[in-house]
Amino acid sequence: MSQPQTTKRGQVVAGALAPHPPHLIYAEGPKQNEPKGECGWEVLRWGYEDLRRRITPDDYDVMIVHSPHWKTVTGTHLLACPEFKGLSVDPIFPNLFRFSYDLQVDCDVAKAIHAKATEAQLSTQLMENPDFRVDYGTIISCHLLNPAWDKPIVALSSHQAHHTFSNEVGESLMMKLGAATREAVEESGKRALVVGSCSMSHRHFTTEAEVPEDMSNEHIYNHNQYLWDMHMIDLLRQGKNREALQTVPDFIDGAISEFKDGSFTWMMAAMGVPNTPATLHAYGSVIGTGNLVASWKLSQSSPQGGRE
Ligand SMILES: [Fe+2]
Repeated sequence: MSQPQTTKRGQVVAGALAPHPPHLIYAEGPKQNEPKGECGWEVLRWGYEDLRRRITPDDYDVMIVHSPHWKTVTGTHLLACPEFKGLSVDPIFPNLFRFSYDLQVDCDVAKAIHAKATEAQLSTQLMENPDFRVDYGTIISCHLLNPAWDKPIVALSSHQAHHTFSNEVGESLMMKLGAATREAVEESGKRALVVGSCSMSHRHFTTEAEVPEDMSNEHIYNHNQYLWDMHMIDLLRQGKNREALQTVPDFIDGAISEFKDGSFTWMMAAMGVPNTPATLHAYGSVIGTGNLVASWKLSQSSPQGGRE
């Protein structure tokens, strides 16, 4: 008699808030990027180093990233070809970011998320054009989290619900998308790192210094957005993640936050909104924007539901 088959259950093992200013890649100077700076934004770059020591590629099978810079008008799109290769140029900072990428996609997980999201009545599509140009938000966060690029990724676009309808509508869709992502990962049998690729406060300077990495020009843009960032960070460091989610709509308006594209809320929902306090690796400004590098390592016993 044949033994009943047991299916290994997958898990979202960790989350990372991984902002994507191209300045960090420029300052780091990896071989894939043409422009190379001399230095700059060290606190954030060392924060990423610290995060990479805490969450290594041995900890996960796939990195799933939601990016504000792959903008789709309606619904969420997912990369779904095994490989994407090309040159990514930042449209605002072509002087800092011209990056040759060659990345692998876990198409099984991408298709599973697509299926679960469709089941939840969310509009989704698979991007099956191998010549599609991958956005710089996805590339920068993935590079800073795993410069060896030796693990496959899944990339999700951000749609316009926050902008077209309201922050509240956008947030509720991101909660559903995160839950669908989590279900897909659990059924896949794989271990996933979920990544919110975004800055916090997002007002920024409108002129660039002659030497971009001249740190005598770098500082917080205004006190109001700094206070908003500190309030949100205070919630996250205490593990008050549900309260943080409830604050997001006001935070978006108060700090003109890049959370408006949904990456943070999707990530929190994909983690199941744990009570786990954030591990803070760094906070710093880039052209005046507020950037937090943070991580959450989850265990099977991580309590769900958050504290009110
Ligand atoms: Fe951005």
